[in-house]
Amino acid sequence: MDIAVVNKLPTRAANAALVLCVAEKKNSPQYSLPAEAASAITRALKRGDLPKTANKTLVLHDVPGLSVPRVVLQRTGKLRKDRASATITEQALGISDALKNTGCDNVIIVLEAIDHPSTMTAAAVAQLMATVIAAEQYQFTEHPRQEKSAPSALKTLTFVADKKLTTGVKRSAARGVAIADGMALTKNLGNLAPNICTPDYLGKLARKMGKGDTKMKVSVLDEARMEKLGMHAFLSVSRGSRQPARLIAMDYRGGKKNAKPIVLVGKGVTFDTGGISIKPSAAMDEMKYDMCGAATVFGVMKVCQALQLELNVIGVVAAAENMPDGEASRPGDVVTTLSGQSVEILNTDAEGRLVLCDTLTWVEQFKPKAVVDMATLTGACIVALGHVCSAVLGNDDDLVDELYAAGQASADTTWPMPLWQDYQSQLDSNFADMANIGGAPAGTITAACFLSRFAENYPWAHLDIAGIAWKSGANKGATGRPVPMLMHWLMSQVR
Ligand code: BES
Ligand code: MN
Ligand code: ZN
Repeated sequence: MDIAVVNKLPTRAANAALVLCVAEKKNSPQYSLPAEAASAITRALKRGDLPKTANKTLVLHDVPGLSVPRVVLQRTGKLRKDRASATITEQALGISDALKNTGCDNVIIVLEAIDHPSTMTAAAVAQLMATVIAAEQYQFTEHPRQEKSAPSALKTLTFVADKKLTTGVKRSAARGVAIADGMALTKNLGNLAPNICTPDYLGKLARKMGKGDTKMKVSVLDEARMEKLGMHAFLSVSRGSRQPARLIAMDYRGGKKNAKPIVLVGKGVTFDTGGISIKPSAAMDEMKYDMCGAATVFGVMKVCQALQLELNVIGVVAAAENMPDGEASRPGDVVTTLSGQSVEILNTDAEGRLVLCDTLTWVEQFKPKAVVDMATLTGACIVALGHVCSAVLGNDDDLVDELYAAGQASADTTWPMPLWQDYQSQLDSNFADMANIGGAPAGTITAACFLSRFAENYPWAHLDIAGIAWKSGANKGATGRPVPMLMHWLMSQVR
């Protein structure tokens, strides 16, 4: 999507729509218009065609006195300072909805007339609106189909802003679109069929992303290399699969030469049957989304490349497929991790932590400033937090606080859970240093407890994204989250 920033209402905008906010009890928009236009709009509002509910819209055509063919009137609700980014997101979704399946190719938003909370700058509003509106244009077209969906019509997002804001708004809105582009990659990878999106596919994609970018160096480790290193927990997961595992690193150096990198680690289980501890078959297809942590890493790296972000970021993907087979791990198997600690695999369906633990040890070589892993790790996270936010846990309170704040600012929220010592004993094993499951209580926390034992040598946070990475039901599809939150956090780290 293209971004335009202008300082007054465009006089020629052939197929555009102009968005105007209307406060709860008002019959006129919060923006001064030519008298002829204002009275036509007031007449329409007095007829009661715009519901009083926040974010509802009414599209008017050929309003006299305006050069745009459409006006989108949008009701605004009560402003709540603590929901600033959520409010803007809901407004942007309302606008996208109103223009879906129309021929409109350019949406014009008067920033000054957007009823935004005072806690957000105009540039921040533009960035968030650009992300949401551009992300709403996403369509999945990666699989061959005879029935082609119509390409989306919306091509341009135009902001009308004060002259002195032009540069800032333009830069922020472009960032917003770049984030939506990253989310589109994340969604595509999540939505791809699991017979296509294999660990090897992800390795090849990383290589392709590294080609021609002098700032990014890509390495892909195969099973022989991982075996030699001693990553036996990781390899125990792919042993039952015909698809060989891959450990992928995308080393992006956009920052100062000696600045320690931020390392992002993604769970890339390209299909999770549960292994010998096999899952029930209902909705098992959705376990193709068990690589959404990895897909998030790819999306974020793409945004870093597009924005030439001045930061050192290493995206690491632990890719494997979890299948039942004669070679697959059995419940009761004991494996030695790269760290030297042994693990009793009591449930082969708790495989995410097995690929992640060796990866967390492996990334120590990068001497990270911080490590953040993201994983569709536990069904328990959905029980606890639903599909609203991810869970964040870690060994560094400042890092956890930063991620929480980035979630609030981007409307891609995360909520802290306690990573207390008190939970660690649930992982006790009679036959190894630890078991790979901690029983039913506090499943998200005990999974993080397991990981914490491999992340002791750097500031670390873990995001359980099981509830937010994809949607089920009629609108089944990957969401592209938590790319917005992570990008917000990374951009705050640029000095
Ligand atoms: N990928 C699943 C977690 C999951 C399940 C995410 C459903 C989203 C929806 C993970 O590998 C898993 O199977 N976890 C087990 C852990 C248990 C065996 C301790 C779970 O949550 O049931
Ligand atoms: Mn599993
Ligand atoms: Zn899994």
